[in-house]
Amino acid sequence: MSSGQVLAIAIPVLIILVVTVGVVSMRRRDEAGLGRLSKETRARDVAAGLSVDDDVEVVSGREVERAAALERIGGTIEPVVAPSAPEPWSPPDLEALAVTRRQFLNRSSIGLMILGLSGFGAASLAFLWPKVAGGFGSKVNLGALSDVDAAIGGSQPAEGFSYFAEAQSYIQRYPAEALGAAETVYKENIFEGMRLGYVALWQKCPHLGCKVPACGTSQWFECPCHGSQYNRVGEKKAGPAPRGLDRFPIEIKDDGAFIVNTAVVVQGPVIGTNTTQQGLEGPHCTTGGH
Ligand code: FES
Repeated sequence: MSSGQVLAIAIPVLIILVVTVGVVSMRRRDEAGLGRLSKETRARDVAAGLSVDDDVEVVSGREVERAAALERIGGTIEPVVAPSAPEPWSPPDLEALAVTRRQFLNRSSIGLMILGLSGFGAASLAFLWPKVAGGFGSKVNLGALSDVDAAIGGSQPAEGFSYFAEAQSYIQRYPAEALGAAETVYKENIFEGMRLGYVALWQKCPHLGCKVPACGTSQWFECPCHGSQYNRVGEKKAGPAPRGLDRFPIEIKDDGAFIVNTAVVVQGPVIGTNTTQQGLEGPHCTTGGH
């Protein structure tokens, strides 16, 4: 199971746990507060000269002793009133209780926290969704090999170049006669695709990230931002870029599906690499090379 799938399961579970803990803690607070006077209420009662306890008249031990001593020496005393048995406590009806200011604030803050966490979880899921769903950032299926060949033969957007938006890549043919030179330059996962006759070039310029268009006249890729230029298989020819175009591994399944693995970005070849010896084939589309 990929890390994206693990996160996609873990985030909703975390949100459900937080909501459950929040609801349970609110219920406990409500029940723990039943039948008790709040600190503010008790302070108000004391200020008004009222007893802060229940309405049972309490006789202290000291008063009982004083009454007994007075009786022994013949003095008169007030009759000692024995406390009546307290009424058995029964919890009030939860529905009948109004929501206190403290409860309102507690519930509001927990509600806001849950809302924030839910938003964060939803944003994380949205961020991970393309990987889970097989979009850019994972293995992208471009369809049958014959369809990809037809698209390359149709040469869109410029003759000799074929762009596939779902993989943010140009799929270029790699000439068989250049394989000997390529074997010494490219990593195995890229060379494997070259052996099949293709290379998948990421559209993003390795200089500062502009999208690099193809130039139909020069038959190179030419970046409009600062003029970096690359030959038809993405090897750097001119400009400020630090290397050739980055690329993705390719695989062709037994059923003919053409897969570009956009989860693995392989850095372009170093400056000076020129495995195909492709020269300029016409005028540039940009001023280039500065
Ligand atoms: S971004 Fe392409 S040359 Fe600068």
